[in-house]
Amino acid sequence: MYRIVNRKQLADNIYLMDVEAERVARSCQPGQFVIVRTDEDGERIPLTICDYDREKGIVTIVFQCVGAATYKMADLQEGDAFRDFVGPLGRPSELVNESVEELKKKKILFVAGGVGTAPVYPQVKWLHERGVNADVIVGSKTKELLILEKEMEAVAGNLYITTDDGSYGRSGMVTQTLKDLTAEGKHYDLCIAIGPMIMMKFMCQLTKELGIPTVVSLNPIMVDGTGMCGACRVSVGGEVKFACVDGPEFDGHLVNFDEAMRRQQLYKTEEGRAMLRLKEGDTHHGGCGNC
Ligand code: NAD
Ligand code: FES
Repeated sequence: MYRIVNRKQLADNIYLMDVEAERVARSCQPGQFVIVRTDEDGERIPLTICDYDREKGIVTIVFQCVGAATYKMADLQEGDAFRDFVGPLGRPSELVNESVEELKKKKILFVAGGVGTAPVYPQVKWLHERGVNADVIVGSKTKELLILEKEMEAVAGNLYITTDDGSYGRSGMVTQTLKDLTAEGKHYDLCIAIGPMIMMKFMCQLTKELGIPTVVSLNPIMVDGTGMCGACRVSVGGEVKFACVDGPEFDGHLVNFDEAMRRQQLYKTEEGRAMLRLKEGDTHHGGCGNC
């Protein structure tokens, strides 16, 4: 069992939890994720790791209530425990394999959309701890939904906050802020964009026009997290990939976002899953029995 040692509500329906998970805390890297279950019959929920403390054996997760499983998760209090906390899963961010000297030469921009701010944070922090100060754009629908502002401020080079309704920071979506920054003369060598699929799609369209290589972190529906079930299948550069084992990070300019969003909708119903099995045949895998 994995005990919750701290639980905090960050915004409406968005929660942070520090969880005792020594083995995961010891080996996880920025960009990786865990799959959690509240109880034996619970749904498996994939969550990107937001922070970790190797010494204390604590892993921090942030999640938004979007369905029965996540509402059930939000009911857990300090002292309660998760039945499963499996990870670290997926490949670490490519940044962790680059030399710090090379990273220091690059102008890096992170773009975080909504709850996607949580997986962006450990990467910016990791860079900051090595003397690399990346710029960060954080987009939120409203001021009330903005999360981790202070934490991000402490580790970002420049932090640009924008709200869709203009209630705080700049006004408009994250794409507008990047357009404004480039118009102001800012130049970036690399962009890492994490947030809702639609945000990553439009951000990649823009960075392609601007000639900025872009990495995205995909979070399609996941079931087993081990490449067996096919739930997280995506097309990248015309090839079939599985976000849980080949990702979650991919070259954003090669991702077929329209297919990924269509697939995510289809996966929600039994009929849709049957359609995917029919269309995707052998490459759908289907080994887990859940799809
Ligand atoms: P949201 O809908 O509030 O959007 C966040 C920001 O994204 C907006 O403020 C805006 O700046 C930008 N955005 C949204 N639509 C855009 C568009 N069409 N063009 C340009 N920019 C756009 O985000 P939310 O409600 O926090 O997001 C929830 C979604 O994020 C869920 O679907 C969840 O699965 C996903 N998510 C993804 C990750 C990941 O690892 N990729 C992590 C956490 C959550
Ligand atoms: Fe990736 Fe099953 S969750 S293949």
